[in-house]
Amino acid sequence: MDVDAFELERWFAEYEHDADVMLAESGVRSLPADRFDTDPGDLGYVIPTSGAPDVREAIAADYGRGAEEVVCTVGAQEANFLAFQSMLSPGDHAVVVTPTYESLHAVPDTICDVTRVPLNEPSWTLDVDAVADAVRPETELVVVNNPNNPTGRNHPEDAMRALYDVAADNDAYLLGDEVYRLLAEDPAPPVASMGEHGVSTASLSKAYGLAGLRFGWLAGPEDVVASAERWKDYTTISPSKFGHHVARQVFEGEAADLRAEALEHVRENHEITAEWARGHGLDWPDPVGCNVFLRVPDGFDDARAFCRTVVEDAGVVLAPGDCFSTGGESYDGYFRLGFGLPTDELREGLARVDGVL
Ligand SMILES: Cc1ncc(COP(=O)(O)O)c(C=O)c1O
Repeated sequence: MDVDAFELERWFAEYEHDADVMLAESGVRSLPADRFDTDPGDLGYVIPTSGAPDVREAIAADYGRGAEEVVCTVGAQEANFLAFQSMLSPGDHAVVVTPTYESLHAVPDTICDVTRVPLNEPSWTLDVDAVADAVRPETELVVVNNPNNPTGRNHPEDAMRALYDVAADNDAYLLGDEVYRLLAEDPAPPVASMGEHGVSTASLSKAYGLAGLRFGWLAGPEDVVASAERWKDYTTISPSKFGHHVARQVFEGEAADLRAEALEHVRENHEITAEWARGHGLDWPDPVGCNVFLRVPDGFDDARAFCRTVVEDAGVVLAPGDCFSTGGESYDGYFRLGFGLPTDELREGLARVDGVL
C-alpha cells in the first residue's frame, strides 16, 4: 500500500539545504561528536541485535521494566514503525491524537482504519472523552505524542492516565511517542510504566541533541517487544554501531548532566522567543520543549505564504502549519518555530524574521 508524502520533510527538502538559519528544527541543538568516545572497535553489527543487555537494562529502568521489555532501534522513527507493524493488522482500528508528527498517522493509515482526534485549540488540551468516543470494539491502538509536536503542549499525568485507562478498558494498547519527554522540567511518568497496555517510544535525538546517532528504542510488554524484534530483522537488523556505542556512554553516566545542559539552553531560548513573539502580538502558549505553534501574523494569506516569504526573502526556514493538516483538520493558520538551536543563531533568525514582518 502507498504511504502519504511526509509534508514536513518535503518542505525541508525544498529549502533546508540552501537557507541560512534553520528555525524549524524540532530538537535541542546538536552536541559535537568529540564530547564522546567515537571508536566502537570493530564495525560489525551490534550483537545482540536488539541492543546489549546493559544498554537495554539502563533504558528499561526508566519504565520499571526489564531488559527483555526494550528493543533498541534506529531512532524513534523506526521504533514507531515497528510498533505499528507489531500492533496493527488490516481490519483493526487505531485512534491518533492530532495534530502530530506525520508518521504517527500516515503509517497506521497504510495498515488499517484510523480516526483522528484533535487537541482542543487554542491551548491544545487532550480531549480524553473524545478519544473514548472514537474507540470501537476493533480498536487495537491509541496513539499520543507527549509532549506534543508541533504544539509543545505537555499533557499532565492525570490526562495521560485517563487516556491509558480508555485504551486498557478496550483491551487496546496506548502508544506514547515520548521523544520530547525529558525536555519537560517535571516529566509525566512514561506510558510504558503505566501498565501492561502501555508502550513507549523515545530516542536520544531531541532531548540530548544526538539525532545523528539514530539511536532510539521501544519499551513495553514482552509480546509487543518480541513482535517488534521480528519486524526489525527486516528493517535495520541492529542499531548503528556508533549510535549504540555513544548511547552506552550516555546511559552509563552522562545522561543527567547532558539533560541539565539541554534544559538550561532551552530555558534561555524559550525566554528570548517568548519575548520576540509577544513583541509581534503573537499569543505565546508557553510550550514544553523547543517547539512552538504560533499563529500566522496578519498580512499573510496562510502559513505557506508566510513561511515561503520568510525563507525566500530572509533565508530562514520555519515550518508551515499545513504540513500538520490531516483528515478534515486544517492548521494553515499556524507555523511551527523550533527554538532549540544555538542561541546566537536563534537571535539571528528572529532578527531576520523581524525584517520580513
Ligand atoms: C514526535 C516525533 N517522533 C519521532 C521523531 C523521530 O525521531 P528520531 O530522530 O528519534 O527518529 C520525531 C522527529 O522530529 C518526532 O517529532
